[in-house]
Parts: sequence; C-alpha cells; structure tokens
Amino acid sequence: MLKHDILIIGGGGAGLRAAIAIGEIDPELSVAVVSKVYPMRSHTVAAEGGAAGVIKDNDSFENHCMDTISGGDWMPDQDAVELFVKKAPEELIQLEHWGCPWSRESDGKVAVRPFGGMNIERTWFASDKTGFHLLHTLFQTSLKYDNIIRYDEWFATKILVENGRCQGVTALEIRSGKVQAIAAKSVIICTGGAGRLYPFTTNGSIKTGDGLALAFRAGVPLKDLEFMQFHPTGLPGTGILITEAARGEGGILVNKDGYRYLQDYDLGKPLDINDPDHPVKKSMELGPRDRLSQAFVLEHEKGGTIPGPYGHVVHLDIRHLGEKIINKKIPFVRELATKYAGIDPVFEPIPVRPVLHYTMGGIDTDIDTATVIPGLFAAGECACVSINGANRLGSNSLTELLVFGRIAGEGAANHAKNNPGPDISALESQEKDEQNRILKGFYQKESGTENISGLREEMQEYMDSGVGIFRNEQGIRKTCDKLAELKERFANIKIEDNTSTFNTEVTVALELEGMLEVAQALSHCALDRKESRGSHQRSDFTGRDDDNYLKHSMAHYTGDIPKIDYKDVIITKWPPAERVYGR
Ligand code: FUM
Repeated sequence: MLKHDILIIGGGGAGLRAAIAIGEIDPELSVAVVSKVYPMRSHTVAAEGGAAGVIKDNDSFENHCMDTISGGDWMPDQDAVELFVKKAPEELIQLEHWGCPWSRESDGKVAVRPFGGMNIERTWFASDKTGFHLLHTLFQTSLKYDNIIRYDEWFATKILVENGRCQGVTALEIRSGKVQAIAAKSVIICTGGAGRLYPFTTNGSIKTGDGLALAFRAGVPLKDLEFMQFHPTGLPGTGILITEAARGEGGILVNKDGYRYLQDYDLGKPLDINDPDHPVKKSMELGPRDRLSQAFVLEHEKGGTIPGPYGHVVHLDIRHLGEKIINKKIPFVRELATKYAGIDPVFEPIPVRPVLHYTMGGIDTDIDTATVIPGLFAAGECACVSINGANRLGSNSLTELLVFGRIAGEGAANHAKNNPGPDISALESQEKDEQNRILKGFYQKESGTENISGLREEMQEYMDSGVGIFRNEQGIRKTCDKLAELKERFANIKIEDNTSTFNTEVTVALELEGMLEVAQALSHCALDRKESRGSHQRSDFTGRDDDNYLKHSMAHYTGDIPKIDYKDVIITKWPPAERVYGR
C-alpha cells in the first residue's frame, strides 16, 4: 500500500502552501500531493485582481478586520479574522522572498489598489494576473523539497477513517483507472470551491466541490453553504471574470442609458471620474459584491439593463482611464474583453453581468483548520474557518489560502509526528470495498439510461433558479425536491466508455455524484435560513435577523436529506451593526 506521513488533496495555492510549510518544518516527513490536475492547472491560476494585506501607513489591522467582518454581514468568526489579518502581511512578504513579482510604486515600494468593500487600499497585485504569479511562485518553491511527492491526475474518492481518526484516502489514478489506498497519518483537503454547481460561473470546470463531498460523506459538517458569491462583472457567454481591479482603477458601471445606476441602490453617490484626484476607493462601484450583484437584478427588473445574445448585461466603462493605464495596470482585462467579447475596452464599454464566483461556506474547521475528525484538516476555498461569512471581500481569498494553507501544513505535521502509523490491514479492507464500488458502479456499469451531462445541466438550472441571487421558499423547495429526484436518477446513469485509460466519463460521473450531495446541503441550508444576510437574500424574509440567525448553518450527511443545525458565530470585539457603504 502507498504510504506517506501527510497527504494533501489538491495542488492549488492552499495545497502547495501547506506542502511547503511541512517541507520547512521537517524534511523527513513524507508529503503526498494528490491532485486531479497538474498543479499549475489548479484554479488559483485564474485569480486576477490581487491579495489583501495591511502594508501602508494609512491602514491598520483594525481596519482590515472591520472591513472583513462588516463585508461578511457579521457572519465571520472574529477570532479567525483577527488571526488572518495579522498573518496576512507576513505571508505576502514571504511570497515576495520566494519570487512573486508584486507590482511596485515608482519609489519601489509595493503597490496596493482599492478593492470592493475595502475602505482603504490594501490589495497587493501582480498586474492583473496575481493568481498566475502566486501559483507559479508556490509551485517553483515546492520543487525545492524532496519530501514532497506528487500524484498528478489522481482523483481522491474517499476519506479513510479507522478507529475514529483519519488514516488516508482512496484515490483513482486517472491514467490507469486503478483505485488504491494511500495511507497517511494526517490528511489536508485543499480542493477549492464548488462554483460548477451553477451554470454560469467564473470557476474552471474542475471546481466541482470534490473535497466538500469527501469530507461530508466522511462525517464532517458543511458550514454556511447557502452563502454563494456572485461577482458583478462576468463576461456574458463564457462567465470569464473581468476583475474588480478594473473598477479599483476607476472603471464605472452604467445602464442602458449610460447612467451610473448604482447611485440608486444605497451605495453612495457617483464621484467625478475626470477629477485627477478621484478617490476611487470611496466610489460606489467599489461596494461589496453581494450588493452590486443584487443591484443588477433590481436594475434589470426596472428595465435598465441591455439585452444581448447571452442575456441582459450592463456596461463596465474604463475608456476614461486611457490606453496607457489600461495596458499598464489591467492588460489582461483588455486581452479578455478583446478575445472573448470581441470589443476593445480602450474604445468601447465591456458588457458584463453577475456570475457565480466563490463558495463562502465549506468544510467546517476550527481556527487551526482542524475538522471534527482527528487527523483531517481543510484549507482554502473548500474550507470554512470562517473569515468570509455571508459575503467575501475581493482579494481576501488569495491571502486566506496562504495564511490557512500554512497553518494547515503546520497542524498536519504536528499531528503526524504525535500519532501512530495507519492501521494497514483495516485500510486494505476499505480499499477493496472502494475498488469494487468504483469498478461495478462506474467502469463496468452494465445498464443505465440517464445521461451524466443531462443530469448535471438540470442540477445547474435548478441551482440558478432556486438558490441564485434572490431566493424564496417556493423556489428553494422546488430545487430541494429536484435534487432529491436527480440523486435517485443518478443511480441509473449510463456509462458508455468502459475503458480504463484516462476515462474522463467516469471522473465526471464521480464529480457529479459529489456535486449532488453538496447541492443538497446548500439548498437545505438556504431553505432553513429564514432571513436575508449578505449573499443570501430571501424575498420572503427581507431583513437580517440577528436574534435567530446570527449563527452558522451546519449541514450533516445522513445518506438522504441532510440534517441542518446551527453553531454560534464567534464575536470578540465587533458587535453586530448595520452595513454602510458610500455614506
Ligand atoms: O475581481 C477579482 O479580481 C476577484 C478577486 C477575488 O475574488 O478575490
């Protein structure tokens, strides 16, 4: 049986940061990184705008905490936010030392840009390809450590729990179709979010919430899953992200009449974009993402949006910035708009609409990234530690995966050093069961009539209509019922490819199996939260209800309809208050 001290599922930013932390602590600890894609194809590479961390004299930890907590509509755990904010600059400087090319001011100091919902500029950036540079930096650094062994293009299928502790995983080697157990004393899940539950998303096709499903089925609750983030500026058709940095640099959003419609939605008044000292940081276009996406829907209902081949849009106008600034600060925005929307934003406004972007909830962990199963940890977008609450602020996520990726690596190393090795004979029996399940249920599935992509599309359609930007009881219930039906129909899927080499039909089926579980957990959390908070807006329960719902939703796996209960939000210094922007 394959055996390591620590196993990390996911080779993106959080996974690589965790692996490096372990490499630094003890080069004798053997670390496996199991990833369904080659690490440089992980979705971290797609992050554009930047990573938040206090660095300038006009800023403070207090400010960053306050922006994050109010941005999250008082759902973040405040002890976790404080830890995150304090560790953030250290991590970003560490990245610099490993070679990350942060953009600079003319005096050589690190440059920061304004970002949505942040009252002070604190977003570090590497042009507008921050994720690409960050992931490269982590990947090249990870290569220094001989104790990091990579299992690229392996798909984890099950968390192995024996004697009440996590002892490894089973994983499918996609190249051969072979399922094997990989034993480990500690396991860290770093598999990213679940944006592909929805039809229109910035998330790459790999973001199917696999880690959430693995943890859920193993007995870890999923926390606050009803809070899914819609980013206000996606390109119609593809869903490709047009970074918030475009607005951070001074871009404006206008409706069909060229009017800056956000001024009608309690996000402040428009500032003069021709003013050379234009204080963009206070502009209403830099309100939080939940409010901007909701404003789009309301503006659409008022008739202010523009019909297009891929639905209604508004315009993101950056023409006034001029070609020089656009090419220097946001060249990727120009490239993407030109290639994927056929317009050059130096001369024309960019059509945009809200797009599913981020999973704020996830695997329930404590402040040290530990789950309820000893030896099992989670970090990055798949985890809910929780610092994002009901609405994440743009640019907090790259920093989050660094800060908590490292903490997870340290915790897992510590656990591995202080616990006995895995119980191999017990794991062998679990390995055999899982091999049979995947062989009979997928590779050698004999009959079946349900089409996998058809089921996935039906799921996505119902997620969009039932648990989208605005929700109500009737719509959510319909989605819950539909998901129960889809799960039954999943048992009857048709697998046409029975070969074992790179059988992507099987991996897509395994992804869908997990997605249906996660979608159910999300929808039932949304059904039970009878209030409106952040990204969870109920048209039938319009106000925030701190008396009854200032608490985390916890979805528990039952094999059938998930059981939902609640756990207190940790409030330390910042008592709940109204969220105020632009006033
Ligand atoms: O708009 C953006 O660049 C997105 C950043 C983020 O989600 O943190």
